[in-house]
Amino acid sequence: MLNPLTPRRFISGLARILRGRPQPPPALRDNALLATLLNRRSVRSFAPDPIPDDVFAAILEAGRLAPSTVNLQTWSFAAFTAAQWGEKFGRPLPFKAPRAVVILADTHRARAVLDVFPRSPLVEYTVGVMNASLAAMAMNVAAEALGVSSVMLSETGRTGLLDAGYLADALALPPAVVPIMTIVFGYARPGLRPMPPKLPLETVAFTGSYREPDARVMAGWLDSMMAGYAASNLGSSLNNQLGVYESKIGQAEADLQRMVLGAGGTSLSLVTLVVRDYDEAIAFFTGALGYALLEDRPLDNGKRWVRVGPKDGSCALLLARAATPEQEAAIGNQTGGRVAFFLRTDDFERDYRRMKAAGVRFTEEPRREEYGKVVVFLDLCGNKWDLIQPA
Ligand SMILES: Cc1cc2nc3c(=O)[nH]c(=O)nc-3n(C[C@H](O)[C@H](O)[C@H](O)COP(=O)(O)O)c2cc1C
Repeated sequence: MLNPLTPRRFISGLARILRGRPQPPPALRDNALLATLLNRRSVRSFAPDPIPDDVFAAILEAGRLAPSTVNLQTWSFAAFTAAQWGEKFGRPLPFKAPRAVVILADTHRARAVLDVFPRSPLVEYTVGVMNASLAAMAMNVAAEALGVSSVMLSETGRTGLLDAGYLADALALPPAVVPIMTIVFGYARPGLRPMPPKLPLETVAFTGSYREPDARVMAGWLDSMMAGYAASNLGSSLNNQLGVYESKIGQAEADLQRMVLGAGGTSLSLVTLVVRDYDEAIAFFTGALGYALLEDRPLDNGKRWVRVGPKDGSCALLLARAATPEQEAAIGNQTGGRVAFFLRTDDFERDYRRMKAAGVRFTEEPRREEYGKVVVFLDLCGNKWDLIQPA
């Protein structure tokens, strides 16, 4: 939640917006394409004039011919007139625009003929989104060149990434086709088109190594964002807008996990480890193993609900204090001497060194097996674990 602006910060925020202008080098001011790019602004108020078919076809053609990784063209475009949109979705196009294109990151077509992304969902998704975004930008610039304005939408009116699941159902998309945004196109109504607050070049560009942003520049930019929002959207605020995003993000995350990672159905989320003492066990797992303490809640009879686990959200451990002689006998012997748990790493040497330094007991020297690099260690109770980096 952002603190409201003081009147002084509101005024200086607005002043900063009004000073923000495209800054082409003086000698290049007459370059028409550069001027189109620098003066392009998102438009959210359209005249009722239709876009002629040939103009719209030229916009789509710019998307078709956009650059892409290995020329894979990992995109699809679902094109609509306002009437077709109304028929399909049962509501008008946002901002009463006459045309729209839903931009889809699409690796489905490439999959049909090439095995380019074996077991690499993140790379596949990134490539798809990256290329489809470039196609979107090509359409946006082509439209500008033809006098047609547009705005890219990711949530307004169930139009993009935050409603990917909904759009996938509505458009009957196969796996590996993910809606990322809708661009609505039209002729802009006349009116003031102020420049939204853009960060200075010194903040976003660097040479050599990454430069942390100047805190004052970032604070000033945030003030301008809040001031600009309040000034141009009566009854709204940046806070409200961020609230809309927050309210949709949980569903969007679940939809994308299912669509991109194929996650869904059931998964193993929690395994019980019987321990002598809660705090001793928490110290071991958060220290030597680098786990996070996910939950520590009192229960009846002095028991606690203690969950520790990796920070990536994968399978966690319930640390359960032994309460009966049978349970005490299971401490350190949960699998009768077999390796009980498997700790997977993406950097064996780093984690082996770190755990050794933290005092973890290893029962052998690291080995290289057909299936990966592995070493057995004992947890604080004596259960055997494999530290493993798969081959
Ligand atoms: C992927 C993407 C999604 C966007 N989603 C929305 C949206 O849902 N609603 C909206 O009003 N604007 C949306 N915008 C437009 C941005 O708000 C706009 O680009 C930004 O404020 C900068 O303004 P400018 O395009 O005029 O430079 C989106 C832009 C992008 C690139």
